[in-house]
Amino acid sequence: MENPFYITGIIPEPYFCDRKKETTWMVRTLENKAHILLTSPRRMGKTQLVRHVFEQPSIKDNYYTFYTDIYSTTSLHELVLFLSKEIYSVLVPKGKAAIDKFLAGLHSVKGSFGYDPINSTPTFDIKLGDIHSPELTLDEIFHYLEQADKPCIFAIDEFQQIIKYPEKNVEAILRTHIQKLNNCLFIYAGSNRHILENMFSSTAKPFYNSAEQIYLDCIHKDIYIGFAQEQFTKANRKITPEAASFAYDLFEGHTYYVHNVLHNAFAYLDADKVVDTEDIQKTLIDILDEKDHTFASVMNQLNYQQKETLIAIAKEGKASGVTSVAFVKKHALKSTSSVQYVINTLLDKQLLTYIDEGRTKVYSVADRFLEMWICRTY
Ligand SMILES: Nc1ncnc2c1ncn2[C@@H]1O[C@H](COP(=O)(O)OP(=O)(O)OP(=O)(O)O)[C@@H](O)[C@H]1O
Ligand SMILES: [Mg+2]
Repeated sequence: MENPFYITGIIPEPYFCDRKKETTWMVRTLENKAHILLTSPRRMGKTQLVRHVFEQPSIKDNYYTFYTDIYSTTSLHELVLFLSKEIYSVLVPKGKAAIDKFLAGLHSVKGSFGYDPINSTPTFDIKLGDIHSPELTLDEIFHYLEQADKPCIFAIDEFQQIIKYPEKNVEAILRTHIQKLNNCLFIYAGSNRHILENMFSSTAKPFYNSAEQIYLDCIHKDIYIGFAQEQFTKANRKITPEAASFAYDLFEGHTYYVHNVLHNAFAYLDADKVVDTEDIQKTLIDILDEKDHTFASVMNQLNYQQKETLIAIAKEGKASGVTSVAFVKKHALKSTSSVQYVINTLLDKQLLTYIDEGRTKVYSVADRFLEMWICRTY
């Protein structure tokens, strides 16, 4: 029996939970020819939502859709490589003629990609060094999208990455290109809300006001519990509503974590056992045990001050006023002046995350399993 709680890869439609409102909004916004900025905390479901939107008939039938995650890129060269690679992979199933058309427009790239004449199989072998003038290649890529026989939607995930590129004015360069396009819409997604909203909401920035914004929150509790029970029932199994509710509350509905616990409960408990709250508790303990080694090595890579700050925030759950004397005293930290610096480092390492509440920032550990593990361990 297939596990209905997917925790990796693309979720097939019957196992995709809710997001009805968001999907409708995104489809409508795209149909109105507006670009979209999609943000959320990590692991809330952005990537899955984008894929789900692409599967909607009105999108699937009328647009070419592309998706690339640029989290690992650190230069405009790489961005260009990722964009072309994605276009290429979408074209592969369409055959040689489609690929040839794309390649014919890429004058600036010297690498070998196209069709292997001997095996008649597609090959993609561009190296970073083959992209000599990324701006020019970018131009060629966008030109290609512009003359495609259907409108295109390009989702660029972890878009905030572009501000870390060493090249100057990447934001301005991209924006200038995108502004000229009539045939291609963009979905910019990412979890670094602070950076992204700043890119799109400050008047001085090139992307200012250039996309409709949507913030993805948790799936509503009743809907999620209904979904969980339905999945168990479909497999001739049972979970009590209390157990599903308990799993949801453990992580305040944070999608990936709730889903992960139910995935494991489904996978490792006897099929004839009605899953109850105690089973969920045990499942969670097993997950944390399993992560013991990984989390220990995360801690191992931190210096003493980073460690004590991370522990303090984990114990606090949601920590506000972190630079106050009270917070520093309560957790016996070194000094108020160094806390902010340490927190910034931990944010950079993506170990912490925060939300703005009025004028204060409320910090928490980004990985909820790590947070629980720290509370248990220290
Ligand atoms: N609508 C959904 N239905 C079922 N499971 C979901 C849904 N949305 C998210 N999930 C679960 O949460 C996991 C994380 O989702 P996803 O990768 O889309 O999050 P993300 O916000 O893109 O995360 P990241 O910030 O790490 O890129 C999925 O692998 C899946 O287990
Ligand atoms: Mg993602």
